[in-house]
Formats: sequence, C-alpha cells, structure tokens
Amino acid sequence: MSDRKYIFESYQLPSGVTLKNRVLLAPMTNFLSNDDGSVSDKELEYYKRRSGGVGAVITACANVNEYGKGFDGEIGAHRDDLIPSLRKLADAIHEKGSKAILQIFHGGRMCPPHLIPNEDVVSASAVAALRPNSPTPREMTEEEIQQTITDFGEATRRAIEAGFDGVEIHGANTYLIQQFFSPHSNRRDDQWGGSVEDRMNFPLAVVESVKSAVAEHAKGEFVVGYRLSPEEREEPGITMDDTLQLVDVLAKQDLDYLHISLSSFNQGSMRDENDTRPRIDLIQERVGSIVPVMGVGSLHTADDVEGALAKVPMISLGREMLMEPDWVEKVAKGEEDQIRTAMKLNQQEELAIPEPMWTKILNVPNWFPKEEE
Ligand SMILES: Cc1cc2nc3c(=O)[nH]c(=O)nc-3n(C[C@H](O)[C@H](O)[C@H](O)COP(=O)(O)O)c2cc1C
Repeated sequence: MSDRKYIFESYQLPSGVTLKNRVLLAPMTNFLSNDDGSVSDKELEYYKRRSGGVGAVITACANVNEYGKGFDGEIGAHRDDLIPSLRKLADAIHEKGSKAILQIFHGGRMCPPHLIPNEDVVSASAVAALRPNSPTPREMTEEEIQQTITDFGEATRRAIEAGFDGVEIHGANTYLIQQFFSPHSNRRDDQWGGSVEDRMNFPLAVVESVKSAVAEHAKGEFVVGYRLSPEEREEPGITMDDTLQLVDVLAKQDLDYLHISLSSFNQGSMRDENDTRPRIDLIQERVGSIVPVMGVGSLHTADDVEGALAKVPMISLGREMLMEPDWVEKVAKGEEDQIRTAMKLNQQEELAIPEPMWTKILNVPNWFPKEEE
C-alpha cells in the first residue's frame, strides 16, 4: 500500500463534487472521433483504459460550433444529435469509477481551414498566428461573438444532458478564448478589445454563459473549470501581469478550479529567461485561497506529483497517462518501480492508443521518450 501523503486524499470542489483523489487525466486530443463529431468505439476504449484510477478524466477538447473545429477526429459538442454519443463517453468513464469533465473549445485562428465551412477561419481580429502557413482569420462580427458565447452555453447544456459531471472551458493553448485575451490576436477597439479589462470581456462572457446553462439545466452539483496559459512569447503577447489581473477576476466567478497550462509544472517566465519564479507559485499565491488551482506539465513519477501537490490541491497528467494508463493503480499498490516513463513501441495495443493517434505520437520529434523494449 502506498504511504503517499497527498495523492490519495479526496478533494471537494466548490460546487460540491468530490474527487476521490487529486490526480486527473489532462485533456488530450486523440484524433479518434468520427468525421461527424461522434465518439468512435476505439476512442471509448482509449478512455476506458485511462479511467478508474484518476479522480476525474478531462476529455479532449470538443468544439462548440462548426467554426471552432481545431483537429481532424475531434469530438463535437455542437449539435443535439451528438448528445447520445457524448453520453456513451460519459458512461464509459463513469463505469470505471472516475468523474467525467468535457473540455469545451473553439479553435479560432488555429483551426485548419479544411475543417471549417467555406474555409472561413475566424478570430478576434484579422491577424494570423506567427506560425508557418497560418491562415489570416476574418474578424468576428458582433453577432458571431454573441452566437459563440451562446454556443459555449449550449455545449454545456449538452454535457449536462449527456451525464457529464462538469465542463472545462478551454481558455488556454492559443485557442479562441485566449485569442480574445491576447493583445497579439485581439486588436479590436470595441467592447471586446483594447485595455486588459476589455480583453477579458469575451472570456468572462463565456464563463457567464456556461454558468447560466448550469443554473438552468443541471439537476445537481456540476463542475465548471477554466484552463489558461499564463504567458505568450509574442510581442505584443499575454504577460504575467495581464494574467494576474485575469485570475483576480476569474477567482470571483465561482469556478471549481483554474487549470494552469504549462509544459513544465515549475516553469518560469517564457518571456524573460531571467525570471525563473514558477508561474504556478505566482498564481497560487495570488488566488489559491479563493479558487482551487490545478497544475500540469512534465510530471511523471510519484515524487514529481507529491512535490506538485505540496503546492496546489490538484494536478493533471497528460503524456504520462498515455505511456502509463495504470499510473494511479501502480502508485496505490506500492509498485512505483513498475511505472512506465517512456512510450513502449511494442505496446500500442496494451496501451490502447489506436491509429491515427499512435502515428502522430511517434512522428512528433521529442514529444515522448520512446523505448523499443
Ligand atoms: C497528444 C496531446 C493532445 C493534447 N490535447 C489537448 C487538448 O485537447 N486540450 C488541452 O487543453 N490540452 C491538450 N494537450 C496538453 C495537455 O493537456 C498537457 O497540458 C500537456 O501535455 C503537458 O502535460 P504533460 O507533460 O503531463 O503531458 C495535449 C497534449 C498532448 C500530448
């Protein structure tokens, strides 16, 4: 039996939902859904293999409308006819004993044009991302902004009807909500852009729409989390000062958690290499007593996770749970020396990572440590 101090403590979120432990599956796009946005059987197997040990599974991002689809094989939460498929996913996660949280999302200017009706990629402003071959998006109209805010609420209603325990608003990783907060992608001078306060208006309107859907449709406790990336490299780009102002305001929205998206849990500034103070510490110190903070990023061993949980109440595991679906169970049984920390190239089936996810994982350089075994 494990004598780990934090991992196996249960945790009650502000909405009242209790997680049986403090480790969640990080949201990870798996490219496994059907073209119409419905969940495929191989995707259900992928999730079942990673459910049960963790307190909650946060799903891959699901688009809230057809202009927000960011990946081939993405789950859809944008039509009522997808509710039965979403229910299959929530049921598969519940069957194994974890809570199920649907990540809801709009890709904005990061959407590949071939996935968007008429290749009409939209964002806060007509500014392309600073990545090779990025399309220049069309600036959203007032009506489109209002519709998208409504769509986040509607996706939340579908998650509720499908039996999920919560939603995570994807305000991180350069997608639409972050694009409105970023001075790089948002050059508007109406109520949705300009000062840092005005750049918060879209993220806050999304939170309000989601919370109203919960108030109207949820029969009991329902989790609403918010994911954000604290900084951007671009100039202009989101600074830590901007983010501390954002979290001050988010902390007052009765959210269940803020999920701080970092590639390494204790990462310092990506804008100033001399500023090595962990971003997670700055956020925890600023708002951790008001809203629970969740960390993530390059946590692999039980020591890594215990160290992180000494700072924040919850963490999520991404790549580690792809390489080691039994992470929590092995720690619980005191089998920490059995934990895989590299992708075993001969264990695709055992790890339940079907094509095309497997090929993508293998092809991105330095994404995963790999072992032939
Ligand atoms: C294959 C893959 C897909 C991902 N897809 C998403 C996603 O859909 N939504 C999201 O917020 N983050 C996504 N991420 C980021 C992870 O949630 C996580 O923040 C990141 O991998 C760092 O954590 P880790 O070191 O534990 O993997 C993805 C990461 C990977 C490796």
